[in-house]
Amino acid sequence: MNYVKLALAGLAGCSAIALTSAAPTPATARQSTVTRPWMNAKLPAETRAKLLLAQMTQDEKLTLVMGYFATDFPPRQFKAPAEARLGSAGYVPGVPRLGIPAQWQTDAGIGVATQGGAPKKRERTALPSNLATAATWNPDLAFKGGAMIGSEARVSGFNVMLAGGVNLLRDPRNGRNFEYGGEDPLLAGTMVGAQIAGIQSNHIISTVKHFAINDQETDRNNGNSVIDPAAARMSDLLAFQFAIEKSGASAVMCAYNRVNGPFSCESPWLLDQVLRRDWKWKGYVMSDWGGTHSTKAAIEAGLDQQSGFPFDQKPYFGAELKQALASGTVAPEMLDRAASRILYAMFRHGLFEHPITAATMDLPDDMLARNAVISRADAAEAMVLLKNDGAILPLSRQVRSIVVIGGHADKGVLTGGGSSLVYPKGGNAVPGVKPTFWPGPVMYYPSSPLDAIRRQAPGARTDFVDGTDPAAAAAAARAADVAIVFATQWAGESFDVSLTLPENQDQVIAAVAEANPRTIVVLETGGPVLTPWRDKVGGIVEAWFPGTAGGEAIADMLFGTTIPSGHLPASFPRGLDQLANPAAPARGDVTYNEGATVGYKWLDAHGEKPAFAFGHGLSYTSFAYGGLTAKADKGAVTARFTIRNTGKVRGRAVAQLYVAGTGWEAPKRLAGFRKVDLAPGAATSVSVAVDPRLLATFDGTANRWAIAGGTYRLTLGGSSDQIAQAIAVKIGPMTLPAGWHP
Ligand code: BGC
Repeated sequence: MNYVKLALAGLAGCSAIALTSAAPTPATARQSTVTRPWMNAKLPAETRAKLLLAQMTQDEKLTLVMGYFATDFPPRQFKAPAEARLGSAGYVPGVPRLGIPAQWQTDAGIGVATQGGAPKKRERTALPSNLATAATWNPDLAFKGGAMIGSEARVSGFNVMLAGGVNLLRDPRNGRNFEYGGEDPLLAGTMVGAQIAGIQSNHIISTVKHFAINDQETDRNNGNSVIDPAAARMSDLLAFQFAIEKSGASAVMCAYNRVNGPFSCESPWLLDQVLRRDWKWKGYVMSDWGGTHSTKAAIEAGLDQQSGFPFDQKPYFGAELKQALASGTVAPEMLDRAASRILYAMFRHGLFEHPITAATMDLPDDMLARNAVISRADAAEAMVLLKNDGAILPLSRQVRSIVVIGGHADKGVLTGGGSSLVYPKGGNAVPGVKPTFWPGPVMYYPSSPLDAIRRQAPGARTDFVDGTDPAAAAAAARAADVAIVFATQWAGESFDVSLTLPENQDQVIAAVAEANPRTIVVLETGGPVLTPWRDKVGGIVEAWFPGTAGGEAIADMLFGTTIPSGHLPASFPRGLDQLANPAAPARGDVTYNEGATVGYKWLDAHGEKPAFAFGHGLSYTSFAYGGLTAKADKGAVTARFTIRNTGKVRGRAVAQLYVAGTGWEAPKRLAGFRKVDLAPGAATSVSVAVDPRLLATFDGTANRWAIAGGTYRLTLGGSSDQIAQAIAVKIGPMTLPAGWHP
């Protein structure tokens, strides 16, 4: 018995699990398909899984369904398995006898993450937050970012990425909104799905997570999300459906919270009815770390793999499952089902044909340099120009004096905390900001906006004041041509945030704006915040958590080296009273009475005008949208329209198509979008197919989508509150099965 087994046995009596495993060498992976017929890559993944399962002993199957934390965890006297990648999230041993590779898992929302307590950090490229990537409205860019993460993952020795956060931004205070794709199911599902597909293009499994309705962090391990099941199908679950369809993801991570009673990871409704019976999805479900609560209930509901032991109380899918099988409490078919779903995913994504052969701790500089370009491009398209009075932006390079205020802008840019945290090359630019431990450390990437601004305007006098004192900041602003205030709000896993900027930053901004009307605010926040000073400042840029090249990307945009093209993936409310649930996130039952009326849908339904609307985003050029026509063939609507760059510089437009029906949860829904790059004066004509589920409501009784026959209104524009053209489309009645997809 090695030390790992000893440690685990001491923990919870799980002594019977074989933990030793080695990566299959390319030679073993390519073993003759005669002796190993499941290695015939021409066979369908399901057939290969079946062939392999037939050769496996019960202990080998049990090996596949039980995952361990891959980092030492002193609070539970846990020592990570020797074969795990230290500093990562998870490890599932392989079965060398049959050439089944181990599963090395790591978090992957914005890059290859390192777990907090890890003695050695993997320094990797971090993209902007997922919400920032959603703000690009550019699925190709999301794919490239995912492919970048996957490439760093491969050389870092990982083949399962815990990525694909697609929980809807139902409450702007959710501390993990930065890990997700915003408030609209189509936008979130499309963007997150593209990122997952990019990761998978490296022959790596990616999860889509956290299934489901994990829409706040407060009380996340026990809270019960209460929601009408039909409304869930038209909101949170629809985002998952889109993400799975667009990526072909074969792994789902079930969430910590309960949904309408049972825990997500043992919910027959979520794991069996919705995922398998309705959506006909064939992949495997792994639990979130500490999200497994039982053996029989969980495996029978459809959980296939317990993750991150010892985060759970017991090795439910280890020794406990072995015992349940021996006593007949759990049928052997349940283990077969779980193991074969895991094998299916491993075959489907090429884990056998493309084994992991390296686990590099330090990445080569040329790889980091190449990947920095991708992160910078993502940040450039993610930034949203919220306000630009009197064309204060872009700044002239001839500006004589600039004062940069606050946000540690002299050192770097902020990123979010928790399991998705990526350690950058060069380390934390502002070490010591509390909390320095979980869900910290509060991390600033060493990409200084101040330095980048100085490089853009070398002739200007550019000073920095730290922004802790409103009077000092105002005095400095008064003496400068332009004041740029960097306002930050750290967000992270395991806590929710207030919508008010912390540490007096609202007062600092107000004081600076009072002193100098040529004030620009750059926000580095996880999601929407309140902007009580918005009428007093000249320009506002939402830069989100902009990733490891964020400082350069911000300066590029301020000086017009890049043209802003980000659009909001979530509404910025005027105040808490505009939210569906104004009271702060609570413990226990959290009832989402608003159902599918999320974000802009809620605001529209109640005639509320936000500070900045969903889809809003300015540019340094202007666009005209028109020529809208639509063809309806049963439930299939295809719209055609033209976008023209009517300004003086090249830029990217985000054309947005909304649809309005009757008897819906809201006056309109996003029905399609397209980002196009246009030279001044150029025009292009595009066609967008509207997914019929966006024309339907979910009929919970008949368990299907239903499109009511009638006249629908299609609107075209550059934002949810900016309509350029509207047309009527007649659509016939139609029903679609719950799992319908294009
Ligand atoms: C998070 C997951 C993450 C897992 C492993 C959990 O705390 O909720 O998103 O993948 O840890 O790090």
